[in-house]
Amino acid sequence: MKINSFLIISLVIVINVNAGTLPQYASEKHMGVATCSSGVCHGKSVEDKKENVMLNEYRTWLQYDDHSGAYKTLLKPTSKKIAAKLGLKSAHTAKICLDCHADNIPVEKRGKKFQISDGVACEACHGGAQKWLSDHKEPGATHEKNIALGLYPSEKPKDRAKLCLSCHLGTANKFATHRIMAAGHPRLSFELESFTQNQPAHYKVDADYEKRKGSIRSVNMWLTGLVFKANEQLALLTTKQYTAHGFFPELSFYECHSCHRSMAVSRWPVERNSNNVPAGTVRLDDSSLVVLISVVDSLSTKSASKLKTLLKDFHRSSVNNKQSLLNAAQALQQELQKLSSSFVKKKYSKQQKLNFRKKLLLDASKGYFRDYSSAEQLFYAVETLSLDLNDFNKYEAMLDKLFNAIDKEDKFYPSQFQTLAKLFLNKLP
Ligand code: HEC
Ligand code: HEC
Ligand code: HEC
Ligand code: HEC
Repeated sequence: MKINSFLIISLVIVINVNAGTLPQYASEKHMGVATCSSGVCHGKSVEDKKENVMLNEYRTWLQYDDHSGAYKTLLKPTSKKIAAKLGLKSAHTAKICLDCHADNIPVEKRGKKFQISDGVACEACHGGAQKWLSDHKEPGATHEKNIALGLYPSEKPKDRAKLCLSCHLGTANKFATHRIMAAGHPRLSFELESFTQNQPAHYKVDADYEKRKGSIRSVNMWLTGLVFKANEQLALLTTKQYTAHGFFPELSFYECHSCHRSMAVSRWPVERNSNNVPAGTVRLDDSSLVVLISVVDSLSTKSASKLKTLLKDFHRSSVNNKQSLLNAAQALQQELQKLSSSFVKKKYSKQQKLNFRKKLLLDASKGYFRDYSSAEQLFYAVETLSLDLNDFNKYEAMLDKLFNAIDKEDKFYPSQFQTLAKLFLNKLP
């Protein structure tokens, strides 16, 4: 029955994967961290247990959250070197760097207390406070009213995915190209639920929170993030970014390690989850898609085989010509849109979640996650599911081993990863 309703939903509802306007591009003014951080507002030294929000958010952000140091990173020697290599005057004044390392809104939208040096500050995620600042703490304020006044709905899976990915993957307006990476920028990797967990929490999802904002299930967050990331990657392929670099396509859309690896370690023959591209081909990054395919496979083999066929077409056309690649990317996007609404909302049973994990590890044990980025996504997936299923402690030793296998990307060995996945699988009931 569950499988049927999944299919029906996925066939009938075609909704847009796009979400609300990002804080950086919305019309409201950003008033600056200093307007949030006073001792009677969000700048208390310890949590205020009497209020429905913690009120020490500023302290958490300032002391523990990397986002508060994002601008300062641009002043460091590594950034200076990157800027010099790219021929930029300086990293901390370059739009391309500030767009992701700060709340880089146009000058006319900056309030009196706004400072670019505050980095990725409150309003970079929560939206310009111009219209809700004075009222959002008053008795009549509700979450819905705040949103109508420009608060960004960061609790909603799609909106959160769009927000985080705007910097952790990039958009058509701000993108960390292979040129930037070759100049020394780290590879960007992202998985919505794991990164949500890794950001030092300045909020608590408790009963009161759920009453105001609804409940947020980690599995929905994870699946929505995967769909959204895959969709954004496909959408970016159709922008001028993809061919803006002369003869070669933009290389950061590709699996980095299909080029960057030792020639001494042979990885042939290479069977992957439906992406058996011809030998010696540079592969587009499909890490979110291959994880999704395993998940969908455990719900409906029919939906999964459709996705597998489309992914195969996609990889084949990537070595054919640009137009067929764009067509294949669009076909995949359409299929993803069908999945997106059920992934956001559906409540998965314990058995379904156990099945997801088992199927992922089964596919990994067959060697389907041989590319570094897909192994990384596999790890995030299994970790997220284990936390959600509340048996993380039971499998902690195995999860540690799996993590160690992907911890250093230059020391990633697909066959070792495959063996570990098999061991893990054998430990499952
Ligand atoms: C305006 C851009 C921007 C947005 C929006 C953004 N981030 Fe970030 N994030 C960054 C930058 C830049 C860094 C690196 C900061 C540094 O060290 O300089 C970072 C770092 C992080 C880290 C630490 C990374 C690590 O390797 O430990 C986590 C976790 C994280 N972000 C999660 C999130 C989540 C979750 C969201 C969405 C709710 C989000 N970010 C939204 C720009 C952004
Ligand atoms: C598309 C968004 C984006 C752009 C553009 C971008 N960055 Fe980043 N940068 C990030 C994110 C996100 C991280 C954190 C990566 C992580 O840890 O997962 C990061 C990390 C870094 C780091 C490593 C930080 C650390 O503490 O290890 C440096 C250095 C850096 N960026 C410098 C720059 C410079 C210089 C520019 C401009 C040439 C730039 N970045 C452009 C998003 C971006
Ligand atoms: C990188 C993105 C990011 C930054 C920067 C950020 N937040 Fe948040 N914040 C979130 C996310 C994600 C949530 C959880 C989803 C939600 O409730 O909107 C959240 C939740 C909150 C909540 C809601 C708590 C509740 O119970 O409803 C408050 C209040 C808050 N943040 C204040 C701040 C303040 C103040 C700052 C700056 C000092 C800040 N945030 C900076 C992402 C961010
Ligand atoms: C199509 C093959 C290809 C892909 C895919 C690719 N690169 Fe590169 N990369 C190159 C080449 C070629 C160079 C230039 C090497 C040189 O100058 O000697 C390079 C240089 C670099 C460098 C500088 C290293 C050096 O020796 O100076 C870094 C860092 C880098 N790439 C990171 C990445 C990341 C991160 C990704 C994935 C997002 C990626 N590359 C994807 C081919 C590739």
